[in-house]
Amino acid sequence: MNITQELMVEHRLINKINQQLIDLLEIKSRISNKDYFSFISRFVNFIENFVDGYHHVKEEEFLFEGLDLPGVLDNRSPTKILLHEHELAREALGLIKQGLEQSNHSLIEKGVRNYVDILSQHMEKEDCMLYPLAEKSLGEKTKERINQLYVEAEQGNDKSDIWGKQTIFSDDLAKVLD
Ligand SMILES: [Fe+2]
Ligand SMILES: [Fe+2]
Repeated sequence: MNITQELMVEHRLINKINQQLIDLLEIKSRISNKDYFSFISRFVNFIENFVDGYHHVKEEEFLFEGLDLPGVLDNRSPTKILLHEHELAREALGLIKQGLEQSNHSLIEKGVRNYVDILSQHMEKEDCMLYPLAEKSLGEKTKERINQLYVEAEQGNDKSDIWGKQTIFSDDLAKVLD
């Protein structure tokens, strides 16, 4: 049983939208302030509802918890570092939100660049190191339990709606970046 494949697919969408935001910073003089702030506010929504509320919640509450069970990785576990990186990303999100409230372009730009920088390195670490380690180290029973917890956590969320909204966001970004 695989417990990280879906998480990797989520990483691909996160990476794609993050890169689009960097591209948006480059072309912001070509669009109105209203459109620019609207995209930044949709990015905040994407982070809160998809990255934190859908992806990180599964890592933090189930996958990392599973890896930290006694006898799995013990003091070799990298989850503390990864949790700290989630926190650093949330601090960068705080800058973006503060920038939005104050209509402060440089604060927004700093927040977006920090956010993308932290998360891109973080996701590469998970894709190349943590996820393969999880697949190798966790027993089938624990994996089944983690998968079941993912499913339970997703209940009450309309999965196609969550993905659909963010795909529309990415398509809208692609139109202005074209
Ligand atoms: Fe993570
Ligand atoms: Fe992740």
